[in-house]
Amino acid sequence: MRSSNVKWHEGNVTGPDREALLKQKGVCLWFTGLSGSGKSTLARAVETRLHKLGHLVYVLDGDNVRHGLNGDLGFSDRDRTENIRRVGEVARLFADAGLITLTAFISPFRKDRRAVRDMMEHGRFIEIYVECPLEICEARDVKGLYSKARRNEIGDFTGIHSPYEAPEAPEIRVNTAELNLEDSAGIIVDYLRDNHIIETT
Ligand code: ADX
Repeated sequence: MRSSNVKWHEGNVTGPDREALLKQKGVCLWFTGLSGSGKSTLARAVETRLHKLGHLVYVLDGDNVRHGLNGDLGFSDRDRTENIRRVGEVARLFADAGLITLTAFISPFRKDRRAVRDMMEHGRFIEIYVECPLEICEARDVKGLYSKARRNEIGDFTGIHSPYEAPEAPEIRVNTAELNLEDSAGIIVDYLRDNHIIETT
């Protein structure tokens, strides 16, 4: 930290006060997986379901955040680490605000995901492995980036020239090659109910 002589201030309204108001626990649902595995689609489906259930949710998505907050970052290992660190800090603040944040970033490195887990209170970081074989992501090639990467028109592409380190013990694992969107979203909402992050009415 470069800034010295700065101190964290607590207000009179606390995190638990905000959570009581919102009737939910402030958590981060951290979706990780290859490009094209379905992270954003799944996060959006869960967002819609939770919103309809009356919850305050917000999605932070790689492609969007890289336009603004992280517009200065590329795809080197170092830039990806910084990308994830900043998103982690935002998710931590949002959790304190009482929101349910859904993040959809490849976040390929275990140590970076671990660092975000460690910056949040126990139980507030919920890692969701959006599992899908590379061949299927590549066959889907929704954005046409895999074929560009194969032609070396894009460098450092995850799964082609840059590694993806799959989670070893995620809280939730969803295989999007085997499950449809509704069932995948259902698994996540059920987890939130079972763990009292949202209350069933
Ligand atoms: S991360 O690795 O730093 O977590 P992030 O999720 O923000 O990546 O961005 C990934 C998205 O950026 C991909 O879905 C894809 O659309 C685009 N992209 C552009 N270049 C690359 C690249 N070299 N590797 C991976 N994704 C890329």
